[in-house]
Parts: sequence; structure tokens; C-alpha cells
Amino acid sequence: MTIQRDDVLNWVREYAQVIEDNHEMLTELDREIGDADHGANMRRGFKAVLEKLPTVEDKDIGTILKTVGMTLLSKVGGAGGPLYSTIFMKAGMTIGAKMEMELSDWAQALEAGIAGVATLGKAQLNDKTMLDALYPALDALKQAIADGVPTGDALKRSAEAAHQGMLATVPLMARKGRASYLGERSIGHQDPGATSTTLLLESVARIWADC
Ligand SMILES: Nc1ncnc2c1ncn2[C@@H]1O[C@H](COP(=O)(O)OP(=O)(O)O)[C@@H](O)[C@H]1O
Ligand SMILES: [Mg+2]
Repeated sequence: MTIQRDDVLNWVREYAQVIEDNHEMLTELDREIGDADHGANMRRGFKAVLEKLPTVEDKDIGTILKTVGMTLLSKVGGAGGPLYSTIFMKAGMTIGAKMEMELSDWAQALEAGIAGVATLGKAQLNDKTMLDALYPALDALKQAIADGVPTGDALKRSAEAAHQGMLATVPLMARKGRASYLGERSIGHQDPGATSTTLLLESVARIWADC
């Protein structure tokens, strides 16, 4: 089966709820190695997204994702806002005017979104950023597609890889973003952005499990 426009809408709504439920935890993580605003930033952004969504819910997947990205850019400052915005904008541009997509389309979109984050933030793997969850998730997804794994299981593998990548940020020293100002004191803490992107991919896997 394919991933329909409404599945995409349901995922965005689900993620907004996940952020609502987890914003305090994300802010606490950011208190340890940042400026204690990641949860609040994401919450403000996705509240605005939920308000905007009705204006595009009859549109194609690309338009919906680009609208999410533009809304995040206008509502969320700091590093996290533009980086999250880029994920959605590039993904939307890659999928384009489709009303439904294959899992391989999603993999391409995710790849473009991640490339956008890498270009904008200039971080590499193991710099203790959201990329440490995103890269393994993309690799796992591509491998699962190559192996012919059904959509639900492929997305689950991708989310599990993100989760492992998130946990693997704990012993790392931050080399990008605010956390890098702490140097060695950033060691021993889980990266907030890797945590929120893991929640993003886990919500994808839940909502598109039967696609
Ligand atoms: N250069 C970067 N590349 C990729 N991700 C980054 C970069 N800088 C910061 N991040 C991510 O952004 C998260 C912090 O987001 P947030 O708190 O919303 O923004 P800010 O750091 O401006 O307060 C970090 O945990 C990290 O995952
Ligand atoms: Mg912050």
C-alpha cells in the first residue's frame, strides 16, 4: 500500500501531540547542555503548525510539508527552528505535488531533509546533534527497502535505529550548537535535538504502520 496525503496529515498531528506530551522532557534535556528552550521551541512551532494545517489539508503532500516547514521557520528561532524547518521544506520539495507516495519516496524526502540539515548546520556524525539520530534512521530505512521489508516493519527499523543513535549521543562531546560551548561537560547528557527527531521518526512508524 502507499502512504496517502491523509496519512501525512495524521502524522503531523500526531507529532504535534507527542511534542505537547514531551515538551518538558525536551526542555529538561536542553537545560543540561543548552539553554532550556528546546521543548518550548518545538511546542510553539507545532502549535502554530496545527493552526495552519486546515488551510492546506486538501492540498498535496509537498505543499503540506513545505507549509509545516515555513510555519516552523516563522515561529521558532534559535538553531532548532531553522533546522527542523529545513527537514520539512526539503522533504516537501522532494515529494512535490503527490497525493500519495511510496516508501521509497519517503526515504528520498528524508534523505533530502537530512542533507539540508547537514548543509545548514555543518555538523557531522558524532558531533552530538540531531544528525546522530537521523543518519542511522535513514541508513536503516534504505537497507530495509533494499531488503524488501514491508513498510510498517521498515519504518519500525528506522525508528529503532534513531533511538539507538539518540542513546549513543550520551557519551559524545558536543562539537556543534550551544552544547559545544560546554566542551567536555557536555559528555554524559543526551542530545535534545536527537531526542525530538527520534520522537518524529517513532511517530512516523506508529502512524504509517499499516501503510
Ligand atoms: N549545527 C547543528 N547541526 C545539527 N543540529 C544542531 C546543530 N546545532 C544544534 N543542533 C540541534 O539543535 C538542538 C537544540 O535545539 P534548540 O534548543 O531548539 O535550539 P538552540 O540551540 O538555538 O537553543 C540540539 O540538541 C541539536 O540536536
Ligand atoms: Mg536550546
